[in-house]
Amino acid sequence: MNKNNPIGLFDSGIGGTTIWQEVSLLMPNEDTIFIGDQRNAPYGIRPKQEIVDLSFKNIDYLLSLDCKIIVVACNTATTNAVKEMREKYQVPIIGIEPAIKPATILTKTSKIGILATKGTITSDFYSAKVKQYPHIEIIEQIGYNLVNLIESGKIHSDEMKELLASYVTPMVEKGIDTLVLGCTHYPYLKPIIETIIPEGIQIIDSGKAVAKQTKKVLSELDLLTDRTTKGTNYFFTNHDLNILKEFAPFDGIIEHREF
Ligand code: DGL
Repeated sequence: MNKNNPIGLFDSGIGGTTIWQEVSLLMPNEDTIFIGDQRNAPYGIRPKQEIVDLSFKNIDYLLSLDCKIIVVACNTATTNAVKEMREKYQVPIIGIEPAIKPATILTKTSKIGILATKGTITSDFYSAKVKQYPHIEIIEQIGYNLVNLIESGKIHSDEMKELLASYVTPMVEKGIDTLVLGCTHYPYLKPIIETIIPEGIQIIDSGKAVAKQTKKVLSELDLLTDRTTKGTNYFFTNHDLNILKEFAPFDGIIEHREF
């Protein structure tokens, strides 16, 4: 594998661009290819086997473009399919999961809230993680319809604000002091959530940790680029170019592709 090959990232839609931002911030000289499988979004309401099959399809496409590492920029795909992906492919695969461990360290009330998709919260992977912290009260909420609203351009709608309030207010009333955003779409909702919850409640996600882990693995494999100029960043969707354009950086190359 050539060290100047691109880093490949995928998500069900535009959410994974929040992970791309962290990867690009940490490793600006790397070339990247991000694919958003918007035609099949949301993943969070699909059965496990469909998520596995869609993840394979996405990886096959990224490998056809010679990606040197795969970043699964999707909690739902990671928690449902990372084992299967690692069994099938030899390329290094970096997953993302809700930041439960950091939240258990940060919390002072020993009560944390997790907002994630149905697919993530009902996965065996997630249940196994939660069991590691019996001393912490974990209050879960499935973010029904949040991804749909983001993917259809309704992020700043009244509907979004009302839905978010109905999800996070009960968690606040139960005494959480830390809220985990367990879906890569949700960091875009942080400014709205901050207008709903009291100050002092920390909102965390896993983006920076995933970028750091990606850099660590590339470094261990001697696969960090040796280019000294800024990398080229491609963003492909199989559905709605206009939505992707809103979330990708201004200097990214944004195209429609079949995958
Ligand atoms: N952005 C994804 C995640 O991190 C998937 C959301 C979805 O398609 O339901 O879970």
